[in-house]
Amino acid sequence: MSTRPSTPTAGKLPLPELVEMKRRGEKIAVITAYDAPAALLAERAGVELILVGDTAAMVVLGHESTVPVTLDEMIFLTRAVTRVAQRPLVVGALPFGAYEVSDEQAVTSAIRMVKEGGADVVKLEGAGRMVSRVQAIADSNIGVMAHIGLTPQSATKLGGFRAQGRTADAALKLHADALALQDAGCFSLVLEAVPAPVAARITEVLQIPTIGIGAGAGCDGQVLVWHDLLGLYPGRTPRFVKRYAELADEIATALELYVSDVRTGAFPEEQHTYSMADDELALFEEALARES
Ligand code: KIV
Repeated sequence: MSTRPSTPTAGKLPLPELVEMKRRGEKIAVITAYDAPAALLAERAGVELILVGDTAAMVVLGHESTVPVTLDEMIFLTRAVTRVAQRPLVVGALPFGAYEVSDEQAVTSAIRMVKEGGADVVKLEGAGRMVSRVQAIADSNIGVMAHIGLTPQSATKLGGFRAQGRTADAALKLHADALALQDAGCFSLVLEAVPAPVAARITEVLQIPTIGIGAGAGCDGQVLVWHDLLGLYPGRTPRFVKRYAELADEIATALELYVSDVRTGAFPEEQHTYSMADDELALFEEALARES
């Protein structure tokens, strides 16, 4: 069997390159995406990782939390992204209920995410019992991204969507969890809503890259949710979000213009319609006339 030579810039980003980026002090850019057009735009912008996050439950599927989204739904969305993403690694998030029961369940779900969803790697939330889930998946040769701090799947238990690790004890626990997850074999760690100095200390101690969301500039990379970054929701977003556009307003203006054009007849115009040869039109009219 021949193997194709790979060049550093062609094809899929090799997973070990992320650790190399950390070593070289280069920041890793991550964005969530849930469909093919978004994946194409994310790749064009040069992100290293596209996360098909279970935030899809809220920003795409209209749920109040990330809990209701199913593995089948996550696989469906991941498939749309992996069909088009060439260079960025695609991370498929395992939803709540897909890995809590046992290591076997976690491995089975991760395999489905890779085989059916086409994901390059998977992500799950938590430490504690989840450390052995990470190990089981990594031992099955599937890359795992871990996620601690604010873990939205357990927001109810955490008392809501609030920052974590804000006392010395809680910060020490996060630090210990991060080391345990690294030892278990995860290739990267998301730190969500964690004080910046705590995230920076965790980043320093780990060999694997940390990806922050609301965890300050000391992380090795950053992730934001597509809809937050682009302002696809009117109103407030969490304090850690930087909105790079206000697309909800632009889209609303465009849609109102469209509705108005339909009502007034300003759309469609000649250029938006198809013509027909005069003789064919005449035959059509004659046929109709004969029928009536
Ligand atoms: O899975 C997800 O959507 C996330 C975001 C919070 C980045 O982890």
